[in-house]
Amino acid sequence: MDSGLENVIAAETVLSRVDGQKGELVVRGREIEDIAASMTFEDVLHLLWDGFFDDLPAVDALTVRLGEARVRAFSKIKTIVPVLKRESSLEAIRTALSLTSDGNDLDSALDAVAHVLVATAVVGRVSKNQELIEPSATRGHAEDLIYMLSGKKASPELVAGANSYLVTVADHGLNASTFTARVVASTQAGLGSAVIAGFCALKGPLHGGAPGPVLDMLDSIGTVENAKNWCENALENGDRLMGFGHRVYKIKDPRADALKTASSKISGSIGRLNFARQVEEIIIETLVEKKPDRVLETNVEYYTAVLLEALNIDRSLFTGVFGCGRSAGWVAHSKEQIATRRIVRPKSVYVGPNPS
Ligand code: ACO
Repeated sequence: MDSGLENVIAAETVLSRVDGQKGELVVRGREIEDIAASMTFEDVLHLLWDGFFDDLPAVDALTVRLGEARVRAFSKIKTIVPVLKRESSLEAIRTALSLTSDGNDLDSALDAVAHVLVATAVVGRVSKNQELIEPSATRGHAEDLIYMLSGKKASPELVAGANSYLVTVADHGLNASTFTARVVASTQAGLGSAVIAGFCALKGPLHGGAPGPVLDMLDSIGTVENAKNWCENALENGDRLMGFGHRVYKIKDPRADALKTASSKISGSIGRLNFARQVEEIIIETLVEKKPDRVLETNVEYYTAVLLEALNIDRSLFTGVFGCGRSAGWVAHSKEQIATRRIVRPKSVYVGPNPS
């Protein structure tokens, strides 16, 4: 019995391989660093979904179909704005997602992915009492996210940064939300239900909620000059430095490298990118001095936090934006699970009382 299932292999997948010893993430045969540097969200959708839908069109047509799905999602989600006003951001996104429909075809898949993004953007506006901004079928997914949140056309460098983020988190082996989506898909509940379930698992702070504390730490450090002292004190108090270390990646987290490269293409004057790069160096140097027996490198959450902040996305929406990227993987894994024609049904060991 292994309550965290760490040593249980529960699926065969062609989608992604996480190698913690080598510090490698491969998605359908391509290194994550390469994907983050060169692919749009729609390219990655095509890469992940290829072979799982008979009618998957080329990327250009898929981009238009996804845009049309955002427009359909918006027309439904805008009707429940009063309900979304009464809930926290994550609960509101979850509520809005429930309007997606079930089915196992391409339109259902696109609707589910579109709902995550439109729900996140609408909730972002509603939470600030701002007017809703309609999606556009002609924009790319990443660009439309920024537009629907801010009402402004983003610069190409920010759109590239948003694309890099969405594709970097699109798939990551059998993590908790992906496993959840596969379990739900295995019952033939439909892709909408599988994506909603994936989001519900992601919403927990142990899975999708770590970047917020990175920004809290940067707030607390305040200035580059203060960083060394701050880190030494934190480590002496036994505190963890947020955005460093990883349970699986023992050498480096390749997603951190991918996002660092993506953020280096954005002007350092935007957000706290320059500050974060300088503080990262000081943190690594301090960890080497104070924890010489451990390899504690930057993890994905550090550059997620500074990149999403540079994109002017509110902390309360970080998990929703994570879901916008990961929904691509939830759908692909769900289709892969459905193709096995097996419901997921593990066993448990009864440790309760016996009948007297
Ligand atoms: N800062 C300071 N010390 C650390 C850190 C850190 N970020 N991470 C690990 N350590 C130290 C621990 O104090 C411990 O030291 P000790 O043996 O001297 O007591 C040692 O390294 C091992 O700690 P574990 O918790 O056993 O290491 P593990 O690899 O299992 O931890 C974890 C992984 C939980 C991510 C940890 O590195 C951590 O807490 N990091 C900070 C929080 C964070 O960034 N979370 C996001 C992770 S990425 C993701 O989940 C997608």
